[in-house]
Amino acid sequence: MSNGRHSLRNTRFELGLNITIRPITLDDAGGFHAALDSVVRERRFLRLTEAPPLARSLQFIASNLASGNPQFVAIDGDEIVGWCDICRSGEQDSEHCGGLGMGLLASHRGKGIGTTLVTAALNAAQGKFERVELEVYASNTPAIALYEKAGFAHEGRRRRALLRDGVHEDILMMGLLLS
Ligand SMILES: CC(C)(COP(=O)(O)OP(=O)(O)OC[C@H]1O[C@@H](n2cnc3c(N)ncnc32)[C@H](O)[C@@H]1OP(=O)(O)O)[C@@H](O)C(=O)NCCC(=O)NCCS
Repeated sequence: MSNGRHSLRNTRFELGLNITIRPITLDDAGGFHAALDSVVRERRFLRLTEAPPLARSLQFIASNLASGNPQFVAIDGDEIVGWCDICRSGEQDSEHCGGLGMGLLASHRGKGIGTTLVTAALNAAQGKFERVELEVYASNTPAIALYEKAGFAHEGRRRRALLRDGVHEDILMMGLLLS
């Protein structure tokens, strides 16, 4: 794997274009909520179709901070333009597993920000999780390419698992074993 994942040890990165990647804080709740809402309203990539109430975002961040779940944000100027989190499974006997979620504003895709976000989150997950897993829609070519580049393996396909706006979609399961 030549993605440089193991060479990025710091938790704050400057990407150029005035983009900073850093761990989330409670003060980011509003910006995170707005970014999430923007991505889910596209209806193409994530289960939600609108963000939950702002209080839920605040609760989500607080819970991640309290439990040490990695959650990073990408910031352009003072705007949050993306996020990546790895949340510990609540299922009995799967507590060693984390579920990865991420997204970027449409205006900020294809510039390497997603790669840096996932790298930061996976570095932070080392030693905390044995396995990171995710689901991705089969039509989401950029996300699948990003996850493959980060070392995720294809683990299964839930055929026609989604029916949105009259269109069926397969859901792919991917996983990464951490050392
Ligand atoms: C998926 C997502 C996070 C990727 O982040 P990104 O910053 O756009 O991706 P990067 O620029 O870091 O590119 C990573 C890799 O993805 C692939 N990729 C990026 N854009 C692509 C495109 N338009 N078509 C095909 N592959 C693409 C490339 O392999 C690229 O690696 P390379 O540049 O070394 O070849 C981002 O596009 C996004 O937020 N999409 C909408 C929300 C979403 O899909 N979330 C994940 C749900 S599972």
